[in-house]
Amino acid sequence: QRIEWDLQAAQKGGFKHFMLKEIMEQPQVIQDGIAGRIDDATQEVVLDEIADLPIPGRLHIIACGTSFHAGLWAKYLIEEWARIPVQVEVASEFRYRQQVFQEGDLALAISQSGETADTLAGMRIARENNLPIVGLCNVVGSSVARESDGTMYTQAGPEISVASTKAMCSQMVALLLLAIAWGRKKGTLSAEAAQQLTGQLQRLPHTLSTELERMRHAAQRLATQFSKARSFFFLGRGLGSPLALEGALKLKEISYIHAEGYAAGEMKHGPIALIDSEFPTFALAPQDSLLPKVGSNLQEVQARGGKIIALTHPGTDIPSDERWEVPQMGSALDSFLFLPALQLFAYEMAVYLGKDVDQPRNLAKSVTVE
Ligand code: G6P
Repeated sequence: QRIEWDLQAAQKGGFKHFMLKEIMEQPQVIQDGIAGRIDDATQEVVLDEIADLPIPGRLHIIACGTSFHAGLWAKYLIEEWARIPVQVEVASEFRYRQQVFQEGDLALAISQSGETADTLAGMRIARENNLPIVGLCNVVGSSVARESDGTMYTQAGPEISVASTKAMCSQMVALLLLAIAWGRKKGTLSAEAAQQLTGQLQRLPHTLSTELERMRHAAQRLATQFSKARSFFFLGRGLGSPLALEGALKLKEISYIHAEGYAAGEMKHGPIALIDSEFPTFALAPQDSLLPKVGSNLQEVQARGGKIIALTHPGTDIPSDERWEVPQMGSALDSFLFLPALQLFAYEMAVYLGKDVDQPRNLAKSVTVE
């Protein structure tokens, strides 16, 4: 007797879509991303892969799509902890601009697939100008890995769904470790501050694994309420600002709902003209020093009749129609709960609307042509 089975279904491990499986894998992805990179005895970050490369005087991050958003996010950490000026640019612009490089510059290429044509072209510009290149990628032996002077692998495992989810989480883990490592080497980040961060990072997979299912239910509930919206704003400040861009990108990619991600403070310079009762805002409002600023931006939205979903922490006081609370992890670590919330929101919206989640129209997993 022949047993019929579907390879894809088997690989989905009981999940309806690869995208959902990959979102839910993030606790493991974080675990794998830190494995072997934090010294047990000293709690210091150890990145053997790039030990031979200089600490940059200035850093040029080159990437596309979701990887670009991870780069924007990392800029905040590298500048704060390692005091290295960081320029983050989409590779399609970087490659054709008249760059001004100087002694001590280093290029960091971020690419899940390691095969994105524009990113590779950007690396070649960096190479022609004698910049050392660090590659951050997920696919072993990929072009990015081969063309880098040092490769950090993100260890996320294969990502099948076209919309990138766990890969961004894995990039953020590696970039956070890189920012700590450079900060420690330069002496701009204290051993205590670094230890606190690595300790928080080690506790993160457990917290996230206990939260994801609850987050999914929250996303499902919001999807039933908001799936009729034709447009969405995603707003955030600080680390929340690149995450807002990613939240908007995810929603566009798989639900085909028009979405714009904005730095919350920039809303008043034009986009706010679009707000009315039919144009909801998804706000990232973590409990941090910028919360009052996000709060006043949201008051402006509410004053114009805009509905607000606020992704926030318990105890915050901000205008909203729907509060979505996740546990507070502290500073940069909060992003690792906000990111899957945004991904689950996009996922549940697309599922509710009956879209082809894993194979969205017009998109490719890896863009190997210009
Ligand atoms: C494509 C994918 C995106 C991805 C981007 C960059 O557009 O659809 O999900 O973020 O390429 O890919 P990379 O492999 O370089 O990270």
